[in-house]
Amino acid sequence: MDERVRVGILGCGHVGSALVRLIHDHADVIEARAGVPLEVARVAVNDLAKDRDLPLPSRCFTDDPAAVVDDPDVDIVVEVIGGIEPARRLIIDALMGGKPVVTANKELVATHGRELFETAEGAGVDILFEASVGGGIPLIRPLRESLAGDRIRRVMGIVNGTTNYILTGMTDLGSSFADALAEAQRLGFAESDPTADVEGFDAAAKAAIIASIAFGARVVASDVYREGITGITADDIASARDLGYVVKLLAIAEDYDSEIAVRVHPAMVPEHHPLASVRDAFNAVFIEGDAVGELMLYGRGAGGMPTASAVLGDLVDAAKNLVEGRKGATIGAMAPRPIRPIEQVESQFYLQMEVADRPGVLHAITGEFGDREVSVRSMRQRGIGDDARLIFVTHKAREADLRGAADAVSELEPVHRVGSVLRVIGEEE
Ligand SMILES: NC(=O)c1ccc[n+]([C@@H]2O[C@H](COP(=O)([O-])OP(=O)(O)OC[C@H]3O[C@@H](n4cnc5c(N)ncnc54)[C@H](OP(=O)(O)O)[C@@H]3O)[C@@H](O)[C@H]2O)c1
Repeated sequence: MDERVRVGILGCGHVGSALVRLIHDHADVIEARAGVPLEVARVAVNDLAKDRDLPLPSRCFTDDPAAVVDDPDVDIVVEVIGGIEPARRLIIDALMGGKPVVTANKELVATHGRELFETAEGAGVDILFEASVGGGIPLIRPLRESLAGDRIRRVMGIVNGTTNYILTGMTDLGSSFADALAEAQRLGFAESDPTADVEGFDAAAKAAIIASIAFGARVVASDVYREGITGITADDIASARDLGYVVKLLAIAEDYDSEIAVRVHPAMVPEHHPLASVRDAFNAVFIEGDAVGELMLYGRGAGGMPTASAVLGDLVDAAKNLVEGRKGATIGAMAPRPIRPIEQVESQFYLQMEVADRPGVLHAITGEFGDREVSVRSMRQRGIGDDARLIFVTHKAREADLRGAADAVSELEPVHRVGSVLRVIGEEE
């Protein structure tokens, strides 16, 4: 091989353009760490006419991504186009052509990870995807390498900056979901179509990748139970504060030995829990392992530069391996593991309801709870005229039992309405 490693970059948007700048600006550091200089040889974009203002000659750009993959002057391919196709086909072709691939594409890794890993394994080349979860936060490498000897029991993450920004706004300003979303959109923290973020799809893709790596299990995005934050009200946030909790959208992967559970949903987290202090667009991942105990990784989960930093870390690794003629750590065999359905998962719950304020109501409600093994940890009551608002926090209960109890309670004559039901995470473990 030439005394440099030549990189072909597919896509030059937020992440790709930041990567081109980093490779240029940090050339000395990269060479010292990789043992060879990195050179951007080709870049594929959609629109060649766009003004890019990058330290690269215009002849490097093409609108034919396959030409980058096939170019004999490209040693390593970076995929930062996003989406499933043509990214999937391009990555497969690069791997089959013996070229290591670095990608930031969570959607692709979460749905077609197995195909990508098996192709890389078969071709004997690296596929690295650190930036696909947690943007700039190193997570995949710590899970795969630093914690390779530990048994990871649970990983809980705030892995979507947009929803964390919205929930932080609702908490600080007491605003509604719609107002906090509009503000996040105005400031560029949310897309004009926010569905992937606010409905939890983005977090579910990341949860699938986290579970796959942490538990060596074959988990895809559709295995992940998912609820977004669109139903969270200003009232829920205020109740959480009164009770000493903060509302967060959590991605949770748990290993129960015989089964694993992977879920994304909003949850009340105790104020003293490390995840409660993760504000605005920041991300964090809280890991619990048998030997390591509790550990948290915190940082910027998105943005061109932080994400390009993670891509570049992978690129330096892949370049080093290429120069030394070896392949890096493999993903390892990913066994299919039974997924525990959400109905069987245990959590604590917060329930809010409006009832007629008269004797015997509380007894009737707690009776329905008790019949279904749901035990109450605390209860608060506030009078509203002839009615009362009751707020219960339960001990850990099975989801199916809690839902059964909530349905039964809502049928009781003095109960006008069972309002929000939210899980409480990080209190009773
Ligand atoms: N942005 C973040 O904060 C972040 C964080 C973590 C992970 N990621 C992941 O990183 C990847 C890239 O994200 P991004 O924000 O950089 O996306 P982006 O700004 O939309 O950039 C996409 C790039 O791909 C190019 N492109 C699109 N279709 C193409 C095609 N068929 N052939 C060649 N080029 C094509 C576009 O060309 P034009 O420039 O000509 O339009 C653009 O340069 C995604 O997988 C994303 O999930 C992003």
